[in-house]
Parts: sequence; structure tokens; C-alpha cells
Amino acid sequence: MMTVKETTTTTDKPGIRQMTPPHSRITRTPLVGDAAASAASDQPVVPQRDGGLLEAIARGEHVGTETHAAIGQHAAVLEVEKFNLWYAAKQALFDIGMSIPEGKVTAMIGPSGCGKSTLLRCVNRMNDLIDTVRIGGDMRLSGDSIYSAGVDVIELRKRMGMVFQKPNPFPMSIYENVVYPLRIDGVRDRRLLDEVCEHSLRGAALWEEAKDRLHESALSLSGGQQQRLCIARAIASEPEVLLLDEPCSALDPIATGKIEDLITELKGEYSVLIVTHNMQQAARISDNTAFMYLGRLLEYGPTVDMFTNPHLPETEDYVTGRFG
Ligand SMILES: Nc1ncnc2c1ncn2[C@@H]1O[C@H](COP(=O)(O)OP(=O)(O)O)[C@@H](O)[C@H]1O
Ligand SMILES: [Mg+2]
Repeated sequence: MMTVKETTTTTDKPGIRQMTPPHSRITRTPLVGDAAASAASDQPVVPQRDGGLLEAIARGEHVGTETHAAIGQHAAVLEVEKFNLWYAAKQALFDIGMSIPEGKVTAMIGPSGCGKSTLLRCVNRMNDLIDTVRIGGDMRLSGDSIYSAGVDVIELRKRMGMVFQKPNPFPMSIYENVVYPLRIDGVRDRRLLDEVCEHSLRGAALWEEAKDRLHESALSLSGGQQQRLCIARAIASEPEVLLLDEPCSALDPIATGKIEDLITELKGEYSVLIVTHNMQQAARISDNTAFMYLGRLLEYGPTVDMFTNPHLPETEDYVTGRFG
């Protein structure tokens, strides 16, 4: 039985249980472009930032997100709304709000432990599996609430594909790995299965290497091939969003290059949300980049701006390797 532990029930949307954060004193630090939000807030405003955002966070102050105006110009496949998460008493995500555009590659970067994987896992409710997790806020997939009561999590997960750091092919043939999502849906039509297998393997740039050995064990593939197989399996059910958590971190540079090319090709047809600790990779393959720090989303904008002309000095320090 999978449940998300939520306690208090302050409800401002029907069907959505929200948590009151354990901290009672929230101050809001205005950021560039955030004046309207600050003016609208009835929270006390800290007019001057002493020592920058990182110190403000260390002091426990609330910091908002610097979201570039260009982000709002595309239709969103996924919307994250005031999302908070605690592992027992420890808060790991703070008021995350972001809109992930359809048909684009969105990269999440930030130092190790800043909450990238946690946020990604929340999209398909994988954190439900952890007993101590409590959440507040919501996310929407193509407008549908992910966290409201009564969501069918199994159906929800079918609308997303997820690929992890380490390739995790199932101990079965290449063919059966790819068509697995259809098998569990009860599809038996051999022609349809064959078609999906070929289409997905082509989509994952693995068809040429695998077409003559479809019935061999997936475990006989190299690490890079296994990861492309996992991507083929993830796209076999034509998900609305593809979630990738550092998919290249266990791969050599050649395999990494192939996966990066593949992600670039999938763009347009698929919406991709990718966590990476590799800033060059984010710069190469993504359209937009989100910079997280200590559970906060500090800045979110077009990748080219995030890397060449970020709004926050903290982002600039991180992307130029001055910390993290
Ligand atoms: N299952 C868990 N239980 C308790 N704390 C966790 C768990 N998973 C992650 N954390 C903590 O949450 C924070 C964010 O972790 P994570 O999302 O893995 O960061 P990232 O992917 O950016 O490296 C870290 O402080 C980490 O120790
Ligand atoms: Mg991680």
C-alpha cells in the first residue's frame, strides 16, 4: 500500500490536502522581477540581502525563485505548485514553483544533495514509497493534479517514463524489456508489439545494434546500450514526460555522447526533464535550466541565459564552478 503521509488539512483547493510548514516565521526576500509577488505577500519583507542568498538560506529565511520571463511563453506539460517535501522532520524541498514546457528539454542542476532527485521522484510519486515523506503543494501533468486525493497512481505513472542513474534492464530479452509496458497493459497483438519494439528502439537509437539479437538477454548489452534500452522502454508507452535522473553518470564518454544525441532527437516529440550534475551536459542538451540549492529553486530560465547571463550572482558562481 502506497501512501503519502500528510498531516494537517488546510485546504484551499478541493481534494488537495496541504501541509502547514513546521517553521512559523517566514520572511520573504525580494529578487529581481519578484517585486509584484513581494508586494502581494503579507509576509514581512527583508529589503536588503546581507551576504547574498546563500547566507539568507543559511539563516533560515525564505527565498523566492528568479524565473526568467521567457519561461512563461510556452505551454506547460508539467506544473509544480508551491511544492514542499519533508523527510521526517527534515525539509528537503521548499516552495518549489516551476512550469516545465512541452516538447523541450529542461535540466535541473545544483550541488549534490540539493533535492534534484527528490523533486524528480515526486513527479511520478515515487516518494510515496518512503514512509517518512510528507509533502505539501501539488504538481499538474497536462493540467491533471498529481497529488489530489483519488489520483490513480498506477495510471499516472503510465503517463511518464523514468530512467535512473544506473541502467536497470529487466532480466529478460531485449524485446520483452521494450514491450514490457504494453505487456502489463495486457496487449497481446504480436504485430503491435513488434511495431512498438522497433519504433521505440529506433527512437532510442538502438535499433541497428539490437535488431539481430532482439531475443537475447538484455543483460548481454553494454552499459551504454542498456541505458538506451531503458530509454526505449520508457518511451514505448509514449509518455507525456520523460524523467531522467543523471542517466549518463555511469557511462563512458562515448556512450554519454550517444545518450545526449538521443535526448536532443527526442526533443519536440517528448518533453524531457533531466537531472544532471554535469553543467556542460546541461548547457549542451537543454533548452531551459533550473538551478537548485539546498532544496530551493533559486533561478530558472533559458539555458543560454543561465550560462551566459544569469540574473543571480549565486547562479553565476555555480555555473562557473566557483562553488558546488
Ligand atoms: N530517502 C531519504 N530519506 C531521508 N533523506 C533523504 C532521502 N533521500 C534524500 N534525502 C535527503 O534529501 C536531500 C536531497 O537529496 P537528493 O534529492 O538526493 O539530492 P540530489 O539529487 O540533488 O543530490 C539530501 O539532504 C538527502 O540527504
Ligand atoms: Mg540525485
